[in-house]
Parts: sequence; structure tokens; C-alpha cells
Amino acid sequence: MDLRKRALELIDEYIKNTNLKKHLLATENLMRHLARRFGENEEIWALAGLLHDLDWEITKETPEKHPLIAVEILEKEGFPQEVISAIKKHNHLQGLIPETNLEKALYTCEEITGLIVAVALVMPNKKLSEVTVERIISKFKEPSFAKGVNREIILKAEEMLGLKLEELAEIALKAMQEISDELGL
Ligand SMILES: [Fe+2]
Repeated sequence: MDLRKRALELIDEYIKNTNLKKHLLATENLMRHLARRFGENEEIWALAGLLHDLDWEITKETPEKHPLIAVEILEKEGFPQEVISAIKKHNHLQGLIPETNLEKALYTCEEITGLIVAVALVMPNKKLSEVTVERIISKFKEPSFAKGVNREIILKAEEMLGLKLEELAEIALKAMQEISDELGL
């Protein structure tokens, strides 16, 4: 079975919001690059990124169930256990402790994609190609900018994975620029 193909079908089935789909694609490619950085399985990491918010729209009214509904769906579908476990632990509100590199990476890194989208949108042509790492860092330090982005969680990448903010920003920017057409930025 082609798991990525099935993942995309599930996304079409459960997600209507285009920006959420783009967030999933951005996280997929970010996780692929992070897997490369840590010498881990790119396909597994990419799948975890792609599917992590699969139940976002279904759990809108019951946020305490995010991502437990996604976990149920993915278990039924037979996705690899590592993917499911990383997804299960990524919502820090669940209070679960990420243990593997994959779990730690999804937990700490996915929020930076939202910051990078916000930075792109304030550039003159609203393009990712105009964004720089310096710009991301300076906007990161401005708490009123893209307020919804949880800086505290992103900073945990350094203690959990030894990944400094600058390096994470560089990897994420590159990963997102690579798929800028799909992201429409
Ligand atoms: Fe997410």
C-alpha cells in the first residue's frame, strides 16, 4: 500500500480548510528534512508530519480529543506505530512525554511553519523566497507577531534535540521554499 497516497486521501476526506492542508504539507516536508538531519527514516517522519492534524476539524468543539480521533482512524488504517505514537504525543496539552527523536521533533518543530507563513505574508510580494532566517528570528522575538505560535514549545527543540532556533529556522525555511508552489507562497 502507498501510505502517502492513502494519507492524502484521508486528508481530503477529513479536512476542508485549505490553509490547514498547506500546514500539513509544510510539516511533512519539514519532518522529511529533520529526518535527514538526524539520519532517521524520512518516509516515516514525513508521514507523521503529513497526518498530525488529521482530526483538527472533527475535534474543533472538543479540543481535548485532538489528536485522539486521528489516532483511532490511523490505527484502523494500519499506519506504522511510530507514526501514530508521534501524532498522539504532539499535542502538548495532552501532557504526554515525547521520547523518540521523531516524537520530539514533531512535538517541538511543527509550530514554526505557522510563524514562517506569517513572516512570508508580510514580505513585499508575500513570497517565501523573500524570507530570511534573520527575519524569522527577529519575528520570533516579537511576541505580538503571530501570537498563536507557541514560542516556548519551539525553543524546547534545543534541549530535547540539540537543535538551535537558528538551525531549525534554516531547515524549516528551506523545506517550505522547496514546496512554495504547493503552499501558494
Ligand atoms: Fe499542526
